[in-house]
Amino acid sequence: MNTLKNDRYLRALLRQPVDVTPVWMMRQAGRYLPEYKATRAQAGDFMSLCKNAELACEVTLQPLRRFPLDAAILFSDILTIPDAMGLGLYFEAGEGPKFERPVASMADVRKIGIPDPEGELGYVMNAVRTIRRELKGEVPLIGFSGSPWTLATYMVEGGSSKAFTKIKKMMYAEPQTLHLLLDKLADSVTSYLNAQVAAGAQSLMIFDTWGGVLTPRDYNDFSLQYMAKIVDGLTREHEGRRVPVTLFTKNGGQWLEAIAATGCDAVGLDWTINIADAKRRVGDKVALQGNMDPSMLYAPIPRIEQEVATILEGFGQGPGHVFNLGHGIHLDVEPEHAGAFVEAVHRLSRPYHQG
Ligand code: CP3
Repeated sequence: MNTLKNDRYLRALLRQPVDVTPVWMMRQAGRYLPEYKATRAQAGDFMSLCKNAELACEVTLQPLRRFPLDAAILFSDILTIPDAMGLGLYFEAGEGPKFERPVASMADVRKIGIPDPEGELGYVMNAVRTIRRELKGEVPLIGFSGSPWTLATYMVEGGSSKAFTKIKKMMYAEPQTLHLLLDKLADSVTSYLNAQVAAGAQSLMIFDTWGGVLTPRDYNDFSLQYMAKIVDGLTREHEGRRVPVTLFTKNGGQWLEAIAATGCDAVGLDWTINIADAKRRVGDKVALQGNMDPSMLYAPIPRIEQEVATILEGFGQGPGHVFNLGHGIHLDVEPEHAGAFVEAVHRLSRPYHQG
């Protein structure tokens, strides 16, 4: 049950030797794949797709049938927790996620409960169990959640935002309201991720997509502190194996040392930092995941290969690198380019893992 045919992704996260650098792509299941669009149409809409374990499993496996990826990631969304908290998540065509009942006051925050991962969020655990079964030990399954800060931005803004004025107003005018919300989110994320591990997730990733819009001090107080609390409360050993945890703060390059000090196993990097500098700064404290600009997949294939070679050279010899895009794959990328990227990582990384 616990034997993996390909465990190089888990090994790299623990900085153990591998034959080639493992690779997966953020948002590897999604609209750039025609088969994803067909399955979503069959489900009706995005949330119905997430709530149907068989179809969520199908779209999780789709990119793995096309490309020799080294990990699968649960098909779901970070906004499942706020939805389960009663905010009423919906998606409007072309506009991204929205909430019917955003959080605006201390009274709103007080009403929020901690969702039961096997109750309101049971559909996510069913998807994890189904995917794990269908993966048949080929590659590890990544479970995930949003960070408390990132979830709070959607909950307070009522959807996606560019300027984050509502949540920043709450942060500066009513910090105790935001801290109570973040505290509840940290508890929810911890129990949600632990339930994913119990259901079969073999590695965990926390997406802090919006931590990088904060001042250094606020990043520590309103985002990192809560992620550290989550890391402390996670199940780190399951089925006789370590369950590695990756923290990813988009635009968080300047805080690498602090992120690495939380006790996580790996830090996700976006493309705005040089991976050689990142490695020098964190030393052998954590593994690194990243960090090609997802827009590079629009380039001709030889240019993509050149970029892969540059990043591999930047990381240099030895283990501790999981190759990835610095953020999610764009929806209009040619699948063939994604395939060339994955193939190039495996082929070009071999010399870095000899001896
Ligand atoms: O393949 C995978 O990586 C697993 C699936 C996954 C989705 N969302 C599916 C999805 C993961 C890991 C996420 C995480 C997520 N969701 C994040 C953090 C990572 C990041 O991109 O920064 C965030 C911020 C969200 C919130 C979210 N969900 C937004 C802003 C949107 C709309 C933007 C968009 O791409 O349409 C979503 C919807 C969403 N989540 C889609 C998918 C495949 C598109 C829905 C569709 O099919 O139309």
